[in-house]
Amino acid sequence: MGNVFMKKCDDVFAISKKFLTEYKLKEDYDFLVVDFHGEITSEKNAIGHFFDGKATLVVGTHTHIPTNDARILKNGTAYQTDAGMCGDYDSVIGMNKDNSLKRFMKKESTKHYPATGDATLSGVIVDCDIKTGLANKIESYVFGGQLKNT
Ligand SMILES: [Fe+2]
Repeated sequence: MGNVFMKKCDDVFAISKKFLTEYKLKEDYDFLVVDFHGEITSEKNAIGHFFDGKATLVVGTHTHIPTNDARILKNGTAYQTDAGMCGDYDSVIGMNKDNSLKRFMKKESTKHYPATGDATLSGVIVDCDIKTGLANKIESYVFGGQLKNT
């Protein structure tokens, strides 16, 4: 969990540092996937660089919108700031758009409920090297629904 604009939890950089002193890629596991659940791109970007060369993949979640920055970082970790959501993009981050607009315009304060149109599957596909535990290639994956399929 990120620390900026998120519910209070442990210092993610301190915990990550502690984790990496106790556990090592190819000693304790073959691959390491870091799913960074955070609100802001800079914090996700920073954690990506922090784990570069020590994780197979760092991918962000939580904002529900896929970013267009999939790449292999300098030391071999695959990275994308946010994987996007699996859901209906004709919505406000997966929630019914009319209801969300009413809430933003302070016309009604009804509960959010999910949009139920065509779903899009979003994520990343990573080709990994079993010898190093690092990544050879990363591609964004978008299938179905409202977004351009890639
Ligand atoms: Fe979330």
